[in-house]
Amino acid sequence: MRFDILFVLQSLAIATLARPGWGSSEKYPLVGFGKDNPIGETTGGKGGCTVTVSTVAQLEEAVQGTEPRIIRLKGSFDLPKRLAVGSNKSLLGVGKGAKINKSGITIAHGTNVIVRNLHISHILDDDCITISNTTRVWIDHNEFSSDISMGPDEYDGQVDIIRASDWITVSHNYFHDHWKSSLVGNEDSFRDIDFGHLHITYHHNYWRNEGTRGPAGRFGHQHVFNNLYEDFLYQAIHSRSDNQVLVEGNVFRGNSGEALSTYGLVIPEDSPNTSPDGDWEIDGFANLGARNDWGPATINITQVGTFTKAPYKYKLTPLRNVEKEVKKHAGLGKISV
Ligand SMILES: *[C@@H]1O[C@H](CO)[C@@H](O)[C@H](O)[C@H]1NC(C)=O
Ligand SMILES: *[C@@H]1O[C@H](CO)[C@@H](O)[C@H](O)[C@H]1NC(C)=O
Ligand SMILES: *[C@@H]1O[C@H](CO)[C@@H](O)[C@H](O)[C@H]1NC(C)=O
Ligand SMILES: *[C@@H]1O[C@H](CO)[C@@H](O)[C@H](O)[C@H]1NC(C)=O
Repeated sequence: MRFDILFVLQSLAIATLARPGWGSSEKYPLVGFGKDNPIGETTGGKGGCTVTVSTVAQLEEAVQGTEPRIIRLKGSFDLPKRLAVGSNKSLLGVGKGAKINKSGITIAHGTNVIVRNLHISHILDDDCITISNTTRVWIDHNEFSSDISMGPDEYDGQVDIIRASDWITVSHNYFHDHWKSSLVGNEDSFRDIDFGHLHITYHHNYWRNEGTRGPAGRFGHQHVFNNLYEDFLYQAIHSRSDNQVLVEGNVFRGNSGEALSTYGLVIPEDSPNTSPDGDWEIDGFANLGARNDWGPATINITQVGTFTKAPYKYKLTPLRNVEKEVKKHAGLGKISV
């Protein structure tokens, strides 16, 4: 008996060593546009060396350049400025997750980045994560939080994706106590740059006590499935400026306002300090796939689009299990790093 347990522990250790950073890829595999796309699966630092960092200086050094590298983050990082992450990197929080505060993370002008098991909170300089002019990103099993009582303009977005970024998966994250969650395409004036890009899969995320943008998209395509929204106060999924969303198998609970809208108006609750009456844009499109449970929330679909089917394989969690499964598996400490 004793021998058997040792043997099991040993083989687990070997499996983890042999595949650093990928020890749990079987349990939570990458699914969606970050995996299946015309330019190749997101692999981050796979194939590169593994480094463990515990100071800001070490972290800033490790994220530079384009050579593949797996970076294990241990402890808390009070970033004095935004962390600019190069191509072909995996950032993996160790154990119950690493903490990032003060400044956030920018992934710009590159490709192939994975971010897992980080708690990014109270970022005052900009978004928690900004993905700009970058392809192939996987944002998985992180926690994002701040303080919603400070209003919509105290903090910026949690995961904002802009400037023709493409082929991205945002999965199993816990977003809570924050106003503006995830903006896709941040300027009406960037239509020509963004149009036809911004393919993003959002699945099995847990949003709780948030204000708007869960997500809000312009010009792109987002597949939003099996997410749990609890107390999503004003407007969750917003598709505007010709954006297309495919929305299926999501669950809305608590004090949630509007679950889904394609009406172009950017509601005043989104950023009242900059646009007290709202901004007018043209409408977006939405398609409904497998049944959603809207709970108390409303929907306003003004235009049905052409995004009727995701161009990849994925497994839908049965609607009745979504609430329980998402709560159980989203956020920190679920992957082994
Ligand atoms: C890393 O990323 C760059 C793009 O920034 C790419 O051209 C290069 O091939 C990648 N390197 C490896 C070894 O994958
Ligand atoms: C940021 O992290 C430090 C620990 O590194 C902690 O002392 C501080 O309270 C944190 N600030 C916020 C706002 O979470
Ligand atoms: C986008 O990133 C590429 C590198 O991948 C760079 O060559 C190009 O100049 C960037 N475009 C803009 C508008 O910054
Ligand atoms: C829904 O969209 C229509 C436009 O088609 C708009 O007139 C109406 O005000 C919207 N409803 C809400 C609650 O935003």
